[in-house]
Amino acid sequence: MGTGVIWETDRARIERLGDSGVDPERMAEDVRAGLLSQPKDLSAWPKYFYDERGSELFEDITELPEYYQTRTEASILEARSREIVERTRCRELVELGSGSASKTRVLLDAMASEEVDPFRYVPLDVSESALEGSALKLLEEYPRLRIQGFVGDFEGPLERVFSGGEGEGGGRLVIFLGGTLGNFTPEKRREFLGKLRAGLREGDHLLVGMDLVKDPSVLEAAYDDAKGVTAEFNKNLLRALNEKLGASFDPDLFEHRSVFNREKSRVEMWLHSQVAQKMMVQALGMEVAFEAGEGMRTEISTKFTLESARAMFGEGGFELSELYTDPDDLFGLALGRA
Ligand code: SAH
Ligand code: AVI
Repeated sequence: MGTGVIWETDRARIERLGDSGVDPERMAEDVRAGLLSQPKDLSAWPKYFYDERGSELFEDITELPEYYQTRTEASILEARSREIVERTRCRELVELGSGSASKTRVLLDAMASEEVDPFRYVPLDVSESALEGSALKLLEEYPRLRIQGFVGDFEGPLERVFSGGEGEGGGRLVIFLGGTLGNFTPEKRREFLGKLRAGLREGDHLLVGMDLVKDPSVLEAAYDDAKGVTAEFNKNLLRALNEKLGASFDPDLFEHRSVFNREKSRVEMWLHSQVAQKMMVQALGMEVAFEAGEGMRTEISTKFTLESARAMFGEGGFELSELYTDPDDLFGLALGRA
């Protein structure tokens, strides 16, 4: 996967960032490690969920009644975006894992209302379809906006993502919304925040969305909705393995489950094999066996308390300026200063 411009106009440039994260060889290595672990565990690589179909399914998830996260985070942003933009004096918004950027508009609206030209948006996402679709819409909606987008892996080097914006006459705000940081293990989270801290300039800010601990039945329902969209999202990972690695998983032979792991304070998604079965993964030259009932962990989604959110931010080298929440403390948005 090389670097390269995907498209460019007078106000926008979308390019590939190094190893774009969908490199089949890299995927094969990751999946081999996951299938050989005990229990089988693919949760270290959430990016493999987000092929075109996976990105669409995630968008459907965000509209489910059980999935309170997106609408709650949006409501916090609506209440606070003016304050955030004034406080951070940002003229450049860098968004990691931007997806459809639906909530980003609230911040862009607040930036657009400052009568200073121009302002910049720098989205990064592994999903080319989601990134292109959102960039095209935003260019139409915001005539004074410039976009420098990257299709790539936010776990890789981010120097190029943080290299622009000098001389724009304002600060930089990096946003990581949706609770995506919760999909990392604690070690990866620390490493990631440290990398962000190292990449930011003094006075830049970071805004991170975090889902908060609540009644396990509410948490588990958010990952096991009545319409079965989350089950589809989970099983789509098997389809991605079939397509990208020549695997032969039959998604219908697996059952989706969501479980709140209290000790680790996280919801885990699993796929349980309904029968004893074996399947070939061509790209790995490997046959995989599942016993009847055997589970494979596919995703972790950590839930924070206000205290653990504060502590995590501090460990990453950020000074927590504010932890915004909704009236029911369902979701938190932590604003920090580098
Ligand atoms: N920020 C959006 C989308 C969250 S879904 C929201 O709050 O609704 C998680 C997003 O992160 C998806 O768009 C997915 O494609 C992206 N993503 C997951 N892993 C990634 C990785 N390693 N590098 C870059 N993007 C990644
Ligand atoms: C992107 N991420 C924060 C979502 C979450 O809630 O952990 C992904 C997701 N998985 C199942 N539903 C939503």
